[in-house]
Amino acid sequence: MATAADTWGINEAQFWLRGDHPEQPVKFDPATGLWNVYGYPEAHQILSDPKTFSSDTQRLLPEKVAKNFEAFSEGNLVNMDPPEHGHLRKLVSHAFTPKVVADLEPRIAELAGELLDGVGDRMEMVTDLAYPLPVIVIAELLGVPASDRGLFREWVDAMLNNNVQFTLTDTDEMEKQTAVAVEQVGKLTEYLREHAAERRRKPREDLLTKLVEAEVEGSRLSENQVVNFANVLLIAGHITTTALLGNTVLCLDTNPEQYAKVRADRSLVPAAIEESLRYFSPFALVSRATTEEVELGGQTVPADQLMMLWLAAANRDPRQFTDPDTYDVTRPANPQIAFGRGIHFCLGAPLARLEGRVALNLLLDRFPHLRSDPDDGPTFVPSPSMTAVRRLPLLLTP
Ligand code: HEM
Repeated sequence: MATAADTWGINEAQFWLRGDHPEQPVKFDPATGLWNVYGYPEAHQILSDPKTFSSDTQRLLPEKVAKNFEAFSEGNLVNMDPPEHGHLRKLVSHAFTPKVVADLEPRIAELAGELLDGVGDRMEMVTDLAYPLPVIVIAELLGVPASDRGLFREWVDAMLNNNVQFTLTDTDEMEKQTAVAVEQVGKLTEYLREHAAERRRKPREDLLTKLVEAEVEGSRLSENQVVNFANVLLIAGHITTTALLGNTVLCLDTNPEQYAKVRADRSLVPAAIEESLRYFSPFALVSRATTEEVELGGQTVPADQLMMLWLAAANRDPRQFTDPDTYDVTRPANPQIAFGRGIHFCLGAPLARLEGRVALNLLLDRFPHLRSDPDDGPTFVPSPSMTAVRRLPLLLTP
């Protein structure tokens, strides 16, 4: 019998993640000039070795494409290598430790409660909760007005809808595609530039002020570094968590036995979040550049190659996970790598997990009949680098 997941094309959408040859965990694609990595041990090897697999991937992009990104790379933690990466990361890491994040729980619960106060007998998961909750939390931490979140959504949606397909072989196409994304990120950058300038004049108790005042090796961050760093925090701080919240509800809704288990035993909520990170990894793709020739998954990869690591596929690798295509909240172990690993391990992981736990518990508390609308199925973010519900209509009454 076809399940809801088949009807909505979710299962099909997951297939391509593993590529044409699931038995081949590392595969060069001559059409794009890129190496795709689908396997868990291979992804693990890459993420654990920043010396051989550099995060400075922009140096390998065709010049005219790299130019598009130039303005945004300074201060972008994600694309930096040691030692600069460590210096910059240290500036904000204390703001995201498990202890500091745990103190945010009452505020997150209050916000989630207020957002759910506004719904009637149905809700749209993303618009009503999964988008506003993480975006308000990160805006408050950074110190930009949460009331501007409609603007962020417009810019970020336009960026995600652009559906950039990376290729090193068709540079015109790549330039065209990245130009749209860059234009949208540019709007966010300009917005943050104004707020950063304001903090220089009038410091406050927020992360943006900390960045403006921070010193690395005795010197202040440049304006571009501050703005791009804040940009990464603002974007990374919400799109993926929005995806996590929406995906988790979808996973439970389409797996009724698992849903019943979590309802009956709330101590399974954290496991439901972890399993949803594995099953529908929000940040489906990260990239790296080889700095030297290396053996990987039975292949010899030359130096200066662009590696596309499909975390979403690695998290479904049958060599690592038993029954990888089954959503199972009682897995005995779940070493999913949806937050990456190693030196770039997601800074916001404790925050995302907390938001997931608070939001899911509150939904279960308030709506014993919560389920998807059979007449109005979910849609997904069209970007291949994201696994994310974009719209998920829910019914709340029997
Ligand atoms: C890095 C995923 C939430 C901030 C990463 C990376 C992944 C990831 C895979 C590693 C990138 C790489 O190795 O190239 C996710 C997922 C999230 C999430 C799945 C939610 C479910 C957040 C939140 C924040 C955040 C809430 C901020 C508050 C960052 C930052 C980095 C990062 C700053 C860069 C770290 C570095 O390069 O050292 N994230 N993230 N993320 N994430 Fe997250």
